[in-house]
Amino acid sequence: MRMSVIGCGYLGAVHAAAMASIGHDVIGIDVDEDKVGMLSSGDAPFFEPQLSGLLQAGLDSGRLRFSTRMEDAAGSTVHFIAVGTPQLPGGHAADLRYVEAAIDGLLPHLRSGDVVAGKSTVPVGTAERLAERLSPTGAILLWNPEFLREGWAVHDTLTPDRLVVGVLSGPDGDRAADMLRQVYAPAIDAGTPYLVTDLATAELVKGAANAFLATKISFINAMAEIAEAAGADVTLLADALGYDTRIGRRYLGAGIGFGGGCLPKDIRAFAARAEELGRGDAVGFLREVDMINLRRRDRAVQLVVDALGGLVFGRRIAVLGAAFKPFSDDIRDSPALDVAVRLRGLGADVVVTDPAAIDNAAALHPQLGYARERDDALRDADAVVVVTEWDEYRRDLSPLHAAGLVRRRIVIDGRNCLDAVAWRAAGWDYRGMGRR
Ligand code: UDX
Repeated sequence: MRMSVIGCGYLGAVHAAAMASIGHDVIGIDVDEDKVGMLSSGDAPFFEPQLSGLLQAGLDSGRLRFSTRMEDAAGSTVHFIAVGTPQLPGGHAADLRYVEAAIDGLLPHLRSGDVVAGKSTVPVGTAERLAERLSPTGAILLWNPEFLREGWAVHDTLTPDRLVVGVLSGPDGDRAADMLRQVYAPAIDAGTPYLVTDLATAELVKGAANAFLATKISFINAMAEIAEAAGADVTLLADALGYDTRIGRRYLGAGIGFGGGCLPKDIRAFAARAEELGRGDAVGFLREVDMINLRRRDRAVQLVVDALGGLVFGRRIAVLGAAFKPFSDDIRDSPALDVAVRLRGLGADVVVTDPAAIDNAAALHPQLGYARERDDALRDADAVVVVTEWDEYRRDLSPLHAAGLVRRRIVIDGRNCLDAVAWRAAGWDYRGMGRR
């Protein structure tokens, strides 16, 4: 099927390459010339495992192209909207200007019967409004939220847990849902559940899923606060909870909390929209979820200060990690960098290292010190803080090797990802989050 993907960020670039890989003829469109130039040469503009290979294969097959010209969307049967919906400056609501611009740009190129499939995360009610805008063209709008995780984007796009498609009721909506069923036929044939809903429900699924995941993380981080006061160990608690099949172990990783381009902004936008709908009380707990999350960053800083006996000024601190999570170079709302910035604010000599995100971090926070090599960051450190659980730190860093580099054997495990027993055995003062 011929399709366009409007917006080639994390979501759109991966979606375009993935759709070409399952046999569709895809044009990716973005206003950013540099991005389109990179994508057209098979280079991913951001760190995402498997994406470059998929892009190159798509370009080589002739089924994948990129352009800055909206008119190149003409002739496609399905148009995916995959532009960003950032947090409005100075507010919590979502900024819909890119979605609006994408729809405005597409309008002159739509034919009657074309399907416009929104994938961006939007406040509930947006799709219905956009559907009205499209109706004079005869094109049909549906909403098809995307649940991909950065670092797993290709995997999650090709083999999602479920596909959700929200449509208007009536024959047009049914036809649009059938069209998307054809688009995703390989995944559906392989057993992926395909749920057809109304527009509002499809929009809500995305917000609700992110709200639930954020709540699950903040729940275990709240338990970490209790564990700290009670002398318990939150990682053992999480293991024990996780064996309950009604609960499950995933997203019970206590530490410095969630960040990134989605969960923090999405829960705020979700709460802001609920407020507009007169139901702010129903999701009042999301404010708590946000506050618990931010408190964990304070806690990590406090652990460093305590471990150094209150003397942080001038101390050299190796910060292992800058990305908001491993397998990503994304530093948007990164708890890791926030901790580094706060330590610097206390006068520490902070040296940050990260396998993928150093350039992004240095551009945003030039006041921090950086080391490309992990060992250069560790050298002569008075304390080591692990804030992103990259394999390079979690699995590959031997406590004995690290001990040979640092000045003092103090390690704060902001992700509870190190083997506490091994580090203590190597003479380290090991401090985790929510652990004795
Ligand atoms: C998230 C959702 O998972 C995805 O479905 C949605 O489409 C976009 O938002 P992403 O932002 O890529 O995806 O990251 P995710 O892997 O969910 O992690 C988010 C944050 O939570 C990271 O900072 C991570 O370190 C943190 N996290 C995750 C925890 O602190 N503990 C956990 O147990 C899991």
